[in-house]
Amino acid sequence: MVYAHAPVMAQEVMELLRPEAQRKYLDGTLGGGGHSEKILELSSPDGMVLGLDWDEEAVAAARQRLERFGDRLVVRRANFREARGILQQLGWGRVDGVLLDLGLSSHHVESAERGFSFHAQARLDMRMDRRRTLDASEVVNSFSVSELARILREYGEEPRARQIALAIDAQRKRGRIANTKELAQLVARVAGRKRGRIHPATKTFQALRIAVNRELENLEGFLEDAYELLRSNGRMVVISFHSLEDRLVKQAFRKWSRSCICPPKTPICRCGWSQQVKLLTSRPRLPSHAELEHNPRARSAKLRAVERL
Ligand SMILES: C[S@@+](CC[C@H](N)C(=O)[O-])C[C@H]1O[C@@H](n2cnc3c(N)ncnc32)[C@H](O)[C@@H]1O
Repeated sequence: MVYAHAPVMAQEVMELLRPEAQRKYLDGTLGGGGHSEKILELSSPDGMVLGLDWDEEAVAAARQRLERFGDRLVVRRANFREARGILQQLGWGRVDGVLLDLGLSSHHVESAERGFSFHAQARLDMRMDRRRTLDASEVVNSFSVSELARILREYGEEPRARQIALAIDAQRKRGRIANTKELAQLVARVAGRKRGRIHPATKTFQALRIAVNRELENLEGFLEDAYELLRSNGRMVVISFHSLEDRLVKQAFRKWSRSCICPPKTPICRCGWSQQVKLLTSRPRLPSHAELEHNPRARSAKLRAVERL
């Protein structure tokens, strides 16, 4: 299958990262290599990219697409949380630019057998990294009702979280919930018919995917000290696709840009913190109308960026 994914907000990303020759960049979510391709083109003849992705299909597709750049591209199948160690192993130390373009690629959604879509019948999988053992089937069939309800409420912002969790529990007592269609139909029975153009199972599927891939934990872990990956004047750009991710990015960037993080009203600063970055986007940037016309999947994208002092 061809790996199809159009890079989101590519022009804005390049304007912010300003790729240049002799510089080094980290693309923590390589995907099909669309953004990395542009970075490599703009940083010709000798700019370098370390591309990370935990999905073996993404890694294979990007290697093939970017073959012409030879050893200017280094690819590792890894979680972006491991970026610091990989940069050290490579002897790169710090980089001039970091990009995270979070979430799923179009390839994930379109590959029915990966189990991300409720439009096709498939095993409940939803793992982006198939070396991991926890998949959606295990979450749905073995997590407690209260844990399921928490996942649906917190990660899906699903108002009928508890009813759906109870319905899942009733169904699985009769036999394992085996596939995406079965789950989507069950959710539709509880959560009602389509809300406008949105399928009633959309929130449930989003929540399960976030839980299976520990998406928020990975982002949070990365954001703890990711400014340290940047050289002075280096820039970081993060594109997120739902409010939970965007909130983590906003909070981290705000913290890094403050000169003190003591609790409010503390008379004397004791935190020892110092400003690490300046904000390049006081509000998130959104995709242009022109982009949305030819790539509707970009519609929930929010881009934030900082520059290391
Ligand atoms: C939206 S796609 C990136 C598309 C890419 N920018 C392009 O232009 O083709 C997101 C990619 O990030 C990967 N990904 C998500 N979370 C990850 C993580 N914690 N570590 C490594 N890769 C991750 C997914 O497997 C997916 O391939």
